[in-house]
Amino acid sequence: MNVAGEHPTAQQAGQSAESHPADVGRRDVGSAESVRAGRSWWDANADEYQAEHGDFLGDARFVWGPEGLDEEQAGLLGEIAGKSVLEIGSGAGQCARSLLARGARPVALDLSYRQLQHSRRIDAAHGVHVPVVQADAAALPFADGAFDLAFTAYGALAFSPDGGAIMREVHRVLKPGGRWVFSLPHPIRWAFPDDPGEEGLTATHSYFDTTPYVEQDEDGRATYVEHHRTLGMRVREVAAAGFRIVDLVEPEWPEDLAQVWGGWSPTRGRRIPGTAIFVCDRD
Ligand SMILES: C[S@@+](CC[C@H](N)C(=O)[O-])C[C@H]1O[C@@H](n2cnc3c(N)ncnc32)[C@H](O)[C@@H]1O
Repeated sequence: MNVAGEHPTAQQAGQSAESHPADVGRRDVGSAESVRAGRSWWDANADEYQAEHGDFLGDARFVWGPEGLDEEQAGLLGEIAGKSVLEIGSGAGQCARSLLARGARPVALDLSYRQLQHSRRIDAAHGVHVPVVQADAAALPFADGAFDLAFTAYGALAFSPDGGAIMREVHRVLKPGGRWVFSLPHPIRWAFPDDPGEEGLTATHSYFDTTPYVEQDEDGRATYVEHHRTLGMRVREVAAAGFRIVDLVEPEWPEDLAQVWGGWSPTRGRRIPGTAIFVCDRD
């Protein structure tokens, strides 16, 4: 995340500051404004995001975050062959496509039409088909108990003011015995500036401040919003929705990984966690 007054970038997306908001800071943002900003930001920036990160993400690869933890090795979703799987905040559907190749039946959901167009583009290039749905993760357009598994790799949660609503919706659309796995920026990062270098290693902001990070235009309309929750708050969201946490994975930065993705880098990755992955079961 970004601290007001510093170089404005959309941190979660790891963009290279091509968009120039009139103002960057922290203020409360309602659900409608936040979702509208998220949809238009991702529609406007999807092309650049896929051009910049597409090689690392791979067309049919499933990584949980910038550390490159790969689901095929990590196995956090458990057995996937033959399972119906919902990916939330799927972007170009790289993870869902990986699961399809491994025998699952994925559906990819995202708020951004342009991200989903990229999903269809990659499908066409490989002659495969991942069904896509455009919707807000806080209001899933599926029947109760429609899926065996659900997950997101950095999608939706950090952009939503109501993570609890997303958890409840995921719980509703999962079958009993289903699993929900989500990765997001590790909450400790909120205390540090969004800088991949040494400057990014000094805590300058309160970890406990949950005021949203907001980029806005000349008229004061939010154009990009991120929502931070402490680790304890996320645990309570998960538990209140009816899930049982079975693991919290904090991937270490691999020795041989040189990439810089926004504020994620070897320099920081060797000292502080970049990603938190919650593994939750629905009894
Ligand atoms: C950082 S990208 C992650 C996408 C993909 N997992 C990847 O690693 O590239 C975040 C995605 O979440 C989507 N998103 C943001 N808010 C959302 C919401 N409320 N509901 C559904 N998707 C949302 C964005 O459109 C974007 O595609």
